[in-house]
Amino acid sequence: MPAAKKIVVLGAGNVGGTLAQRLAEMDLAEELVLIDIVEGLPQGKALDIQESAPILGFATRVTGSTSLDALAGADIVVETAGLARKPGMSRSDLLEKNAAILKGHALAVAQRSPSAIVIVVTNPVDVMTYWFREVSGLKPERVFGESGTLDTARFRTFVAMELGVAPRDVTGFVLGTHGDTMVPLLSLTSVAGVPLIGLLPPERLQAIVDRTKKGGGEIVELLKMGSAYYAPSAAQAELVRAVLLNEHRLLPVTAHLQGEYGQKGIYIGVPVVLGRGGVERVMVVGTTPAERAQFEASAMAVKADLEILAKLPRTA
Ligand code: 2OP
Repeated sequence: MPAAKKIVVLGAGNVGGTLAQRLAEMDLAEELVLIDIVEGLPQGKALDIQESAPILGFATRVTGSTSLDALAGADIVVETAGLARKPGMSRSDLLEKNAAILKGHALAVAQRSPSAIVIVVTNPVDVMTYWFREVSGLKPERVFGESGTLDTARFRTFVAMELGVAPRDVTGFVLGTHGDTMVPLLSLTSVAGVPLIGLLPPERLQAIVDRTKKGGGEIVELLKMGSAYYAPSAAQAELVRAVLLNEHRLLPVTAHLQGEYGQKGIYIGVPVVLGRGGVERVMVVGTTPAERAQFEASAMAVKADLEILAKLPRTA
């Protein structure tokens, strides 16, 4: 018995297509619809994924559409649409263009699938999640963004590479915005329970933190066309599963804060408990004074982008 009736992935680019493939293979829903404005793209990718079902054994029916009417009845919607960064661009450079694209989608979700949970991954993600929530009018706990799970995966990967241990044995959290001011929490990182601080000298730890902050940019520079999608889609799929299977996973996402971490009314990366209703609660974790100061700088960066957003029209 699949966990859900319908998953919709908005945007059939590299992220949306790879996510659709992962979700189909996880067999979480009866139906998965990939939506994009480019005629043929969502239909072609969906059919290609569907044709792998006899070999891989999943039962999810995968289709593609260019119509937002296909949102109807969705249990969960993942918003991947929008422009990706090119070399030299910051995530904030994308703000106005992607806000225009997401506005149409948020209004369509409000009309056609108002009881869906929405995961936003479009950049700049903290601000786009705020925008999607505001335009759609959905409850804040039902709209959240993916960034921390990806940033944390990158951080865990770099720690594992440095120590020569299995990546899954490294646990930790990255707080703050999905940008240069993100805050990998060294104080809460461990290797199978052994605190990371003490396993590596401070300069190596700092090098890992710096590489994590530029993790997305490192891939953009290497690819020279487009940005990362394998690790991003893996992170997104983990969140979809946590929601649809009501796993109560403790994962970092871009969540709406109502006073936690000293912030109110913004979306930013923090650890939350995720279940069938979306964000069940924000987990406030202990941080060092230095980490706290970095988080505050991160919140300032989000607020600066929100000021740009405040000038944009909200209705169609
Ligand atoms: C990344 O960090 C695209 O923002 C995304 O790779």
